[in-house]
Amino acid sequence: MPLRRIRERGNGELAAFCSEYSDCSISADKADQHPTVPPADRLRHTISRRTLQRRSRLVRLCSDKTETGNIERQETALTDYQTLHWVGDSLGYLVLIDQTLLPAELREISCRTADDVWEAIRVLRIRGAPAIGVAAAYGVVIGTQPVSSLSRSEFDLRLNEVTDFLASSRPTAVNLFWALERMRQRAAGMPGHSAADCHQSLLEEAKQIELEDREMCDAIGLLGSSLLASGMSVLTHCNAGALATAGSGTALSVLFAAAASGKQIHVFADETRPLLQGARLTAWELQNHGIPVTVICDNMAAQVMKEGRVNAVITGADRIAANGDAANKIGTYGVAVLARHHGIPFYVAAPSSTFDFSLADGSLIPIEQRNAAEITHGFGRCTVPEGVAVYNPAFDVTPASLITAIVTEKGIIHAPTTENVRNLLFAPV
Ligand code: MRU
Repeated sequence: MPLRRIRERGNGELAAFCSEYSDCSISADKADQHPTVPPADRLRHTISRRTLQRRSRLVRLCSDKTETGNIERQETALTDYQTLHWVGDSLGYLVLIDQTLLPAELREISCRTADDVWEAIRVLRIRGAPAIGVAAAYGVVIGTQPVSSLSRSEFDLRLNEVTDFLASSRPTAVNLFWALERMRQRAAGMPGHSAADCHQSLLEEAKQIELEDREMCDAIGLLGSSLLASGMSVLTHCNAGALATAGSGTALSVLFAAAASGKQIHVFADETRPLLQGARLTAWELQNHGIPVTVICDNMAAQVMKEGRVNAVITGADRIAANGDAANKIGTYGVAVLARHHGIPFYVAAPSSTFDFSLADGSLIPIEQRNAAEITHGFGRCTVPEGVAVYNPAFDVTPASLITAIVTEKGIIHAPTTENVRNLLFAPV
C-alpha cells in the first residue's frame, strides 16, 4: 500500500484536520488543556477506534516540533503502523505507540530523555521483549546526547550510568540486557575515538538492532508457518505481535505468515489478566490483519480446549534458559499444562536474542513483581476490597518438557533440551 504523505503547516491546520475527521476523540486545539492528554510535545496522534474501523486505514497525525514547524500527516494501511522508530540524526528522538491506550486510541509519543524511555518501558507504553530491547538501545543514544560533544571519559561515564539506569526498568525480558550490552560493547570497541564519533556509532548500533529484530521476526514467521495447516484454530496468550517487536512479531508473525500464504487460520486470544495484552493488543493486531480472532477470558482456555476447538498453541517468550525453559507472560505456564493434558502442541516463538545461556534452567529467571494496583484497580475500577493482600508476578516459566518446539530465526528446536538448543543455535553456518 503506497504511503500518502501530506505536509501541512501550523496548529490551525492541525485543528482543521481534526475537524475534517470529526470523530477524532480529542481535537488538536483542545488537546493541551485536556486532563488526560500529555504535554504538547507528546501529542502525536489521537483517533477513535470507530474511525479506524470505518476507514480500515491508519491516519497518522504528527505534530513534530521541528525547526520548520511542519506538521506531517500520513495515511497508510492499518497494518503499516510502526511500534517504534527513530526520528532525526544522533541528536534526534524516539517515537513509539503508547500501548497503554490501545485499542481505544492509537497515539504516538516522543521520548526525548532517558527518563522518558525508562518510564515508557516501566509502565508498558512499549512492551514485549524485543521491542523493549530496541527502545532501550535508542534510550542509550538519547541518554548520551548531552555528553556527545564532551571528552571521551565524560562520555563513557555517562554511558555507564545510562545503561545501568535503563537496565533497571524491567527485570525479566533478557532482550533489554542483551541490547544494552551490545551498546556498551560498541562503545568499548572504539578506544581512542571521540565522544562524537562514539555517539554516532551508538545510533548506528541501535538502528542495526532494530533492523535485525525485523529480520528475525520475518524469519520466525516463515519458519513457524510450516507448523500450521489451513483450517487450524490457534490459541495465543499475551501479545507477541508487531507491537511487541520492531517488526511483524514472533508468535503473531507465524500467524501472519500462515495467513499470507493462503492458510485459513482462526485465533483464540486469551485476554491475559491483569493488563489485557491479549484482548487489547493481540485482538487489535489480528483484526487489523483480517485474521479471525475470538477473545476468551484466561479461565476459559480449558473449556475451549476440551470442546476440541484448539489445534495448537503459540506464544512468545521473554527469556529462555539454556535448557529451553521459557519465561513468558503470567498464565502461559497454565496454558502449556492444559495443552499437554489435551494433547495439543505448544509452540514458543522467539528470536535468539531471547535466549539466556548464562542460566542453566528456568528456575533462575528473575520474575518481575508488579504493582498490586494492576489487580485491585485494573483500568480504573476497584475490584478487590481495600487492604486485601495481592500477589502480582508478571511472568511465569514453562518447563521445556511442556514445549513441543521453539521457533527461532535460525530454525525450529523440536523437543527442546540443553543439547537440542545448543545444536540448533550454535550450529556452524
Ligand atoms: O509485560 P509484557 O506485555 O511486556 O509481556 C510481554 C510478553 O510476555 C510477550 O509474550 C513476550 O515479551 C514476547 S514478545 C514477542
